[in-house]
Amino acid sequence: MAVLDILTYPDERLRQASDRVQRFDVALQARIDDLEETRKAGPGAVGIAAPQVGWFERVIIVDVSGRKKTRSHGHLILVNPEITEWDGFAMGREGCLSVPGIYESVRRFQHVRVSSLDRDGNETEVEAFGLLAVCIQHEMDHLDGKLFVDYLSELKRQRIRKKMEKGRRDTATSRSGVSGTPSII
Ligand code: NI
Repeated sequence: MAVLDILTYPDERLRQASDRVQRFDVALQARIDDLEETRKAGPGAVGIAAPQVGWFERVIIVDVSGRKKTRSHGHLILVNPEITEWDGFAMGREGCLSVPGIYESVRRFQHVRVSSLDRDGNETEVEAFGLLAVCIQHEMDHLDGKLFVDYLSELKRQRIRKKMEKGRRDTATSRSGVSGTPSII
């Protein structure tokens, strides 16, 4: 297993839409293991999506088992996920491994029902609420080349973009001013 490099905003590759997984073979298992290893290496990351490591197939991992106030399903590997039901709204502060050091509030559905395949290609259904629902939506956005900063105002996004580009030169990120526990997904 290997910890892979994570693409960071504003890298254009993060805008690429991912393809559906067609083959459930040994190579897929190895890639999923690397993705999981990479998520675990990210500081406090509760989720990761394949395109964040330059793998453009529809695979996401979420793990909210370490977080309080979560119901059921701790750790999920979802392949070719589709949201089939959704309702309610929830606002929560989100962060992302691809936008390090930035935390902003985003509006999401409070509840989603997701049809997907597991790592072996078996069909699964997930009923997700709260943080788990938010994480799944955030990760599924990655599969369509969408980032949480896209929900913010143009002005705010430009500011973040500048900060990211500056950060890349300085190789320093500041986490000051962060209150509460944002979800890095
Ligand atoms: Ni993310």
